[in-house]
Amino acid sequence: GSSASPAISVDAQASGPVISREIFGQFVEHLGNGVYGGIWVGKDSAIPNVRGIRSDVVTALRAIKVPVVRWPGGCFADQYNWRHGIGPADQRVATVNMWGNVVEPNTFGTDEYLDFVDQIGSEAYVSVNVGSGTPAEAAAWLEYMTTDQPSTLGKLRAANGHPAPYRIKYLGIGNENWGCGGGMSADEYVSEMKRFGSFTRNLNPAQNGVVPFVRSPDAMRQIAVGPGDDKTDYTEAVMKAWTQKAPYSWDIDGISLHYYTGGKAGVLQSPSTGFGEDDYAASIRNTLKMEQLIAANSAVMDKYDPQKKIALMVDEWGIWTAPMPGTNFMFMRQHGSLRDGILAALNFNIFVRHAERVRMANIAQMANVIHSLILTDGAKMLLTPTYHVHRLYLPFQDAHRLVVTFTPGSYRAGEIALPQVDGIAARTKDGTVWLAVTNLDAARTVDLGAQVHGMATRSAVGEVLTAPAVDAINTYAKPDVVAPRPVRFSAQGGKLML
Ligand code: AHR
Repeated sequence: GSSASPAISVDAQASGPVISREIFGQFVEHLGNGVYGGIWVGKDSAIPNVRGIRSDVVTALRAIKVPVVRWPGGCFADQYNWRHGIGPADQRVATVNMWGNVVEPNTFGTDEYLDFVDQIGSEAYVSVNVGSGTPAEAAAWLEYMTTDQPSTLGKLRAANGHPAPYRIKYLGIGNENWGCGGGMSADEYVSEMKRFGSFTRNLNPAQNGVVPFVRSPDAMRQIAVGPGDDKTDYTEAVMKAWTQKAPYSWDIDGISLHYYTGGKAGVLQSPSTGFGEDDYAASIRNTLKMEQLIAANSAVMDKYDPQKKIALMVDEWGIWTAPMPGTNFMFMRQHGSLRDGILAALNFNIFVRHAERVRMANIAQMANVIHSLILTDGAKMLLTPTYHVHRLYLPFQDAHRLVVTFTPGSYRAGEIALPQVDGIAARTKDGTVWLAVTNLDAARTVDLGAQVHGMATRSAVGEVLTAPAVDAINTYAKPDVVAPRPVRFSAQGGKLML
């Protein structure tokens, strides 16, 4: 930090890489009320729904243009048998979900998930079961979802209401197989990844193009498991295998990275509202570690793939606090405070600064679980500050990153020293320059001078998301405590005052 007052300067002409809209992706797991209650209410529910999927949630998600939804887990994916979740509702197999030792009715399965993805206008990212499943089961699942042929599984999908093959843009080869997905060493995982990757074929002709053996630009992309801590052994082993792979076998397009932010005492420890500034500052400091994790894994990937063909997909991230008092501990239901919104913005800024390599990210999780955008309680729904941050970042979807330099100022809380401001800028196709600026300071406002070079700036409009306290939350009774408010900024000598 520095004692100089914060200032930011944007070069409107020096255009960088495209910011993949998929860094604003979502993650939905069969955990707590992430699916049941959060998305699925059932066709006979009094809560307005389309084919069982709640309409208020769909409307809210359409408004933030969700680019991609990862499903069915998480750790749940490596215990999931897709056959339990298809066919007539009254014939679905009920199982036990490890998350909270509750009955998993399997009412929400493949067809319901793909209907949900379609209703919100998003892309599918399905994770197959590597931990307890087989390549044959995963291959059959792909056949069920994607074949256009009248095979037994193709006909089964048609009988279940969807004659046309589904579009599956991404396939995850397992989840955290170093941990809940089977405790595999990096080399053990790579052996499994090769087998699963070779046989999980997307058969949808619309995605595969017409030239044999030539990969269509629309082909399904496969994502390997990567790190969930400071180690880079998975990244190293997967990338090495990729450079040595046999032709016409398997391929990958991405490696996943998981990182959860904890508060002062680590993940699952701090309250999700009613925390002090010490906890706030610790969680902000902890979340900025995302930068180091991305840098470390990118460095390993650069050794094997200097052209950056393989993307780093941060497909689980967010702040993980203690669950709300009085709720099932394993349901991981948290309040969403202004702090979480600030933290989301800081993570987006990190992803954008690494846009060359980070081409997808999926916040954990979309509704009612961990760092959620949406909370529901029966018929009630509220939008968290993190939801609003997603909306504020909409212009950055597929925009060109611009070069930003700034004097960050400093924010000190006890022993923790942080910059006071952080920011990114981008230019959209229509030539508009967008700035996203975050004030990290829990108490002090900031007057920020923003100089935009290479463009005439006379005025600017925008929105501000703030609240009287960083632990402020929206409630069903007061849903707009933390909501964006429009602002108009003045300009003096080409310099904007924010
Ligand atoms: O998001 C909750 C859990 O965190 C996921 O199931 C798992 O992948 C991670 O450890």
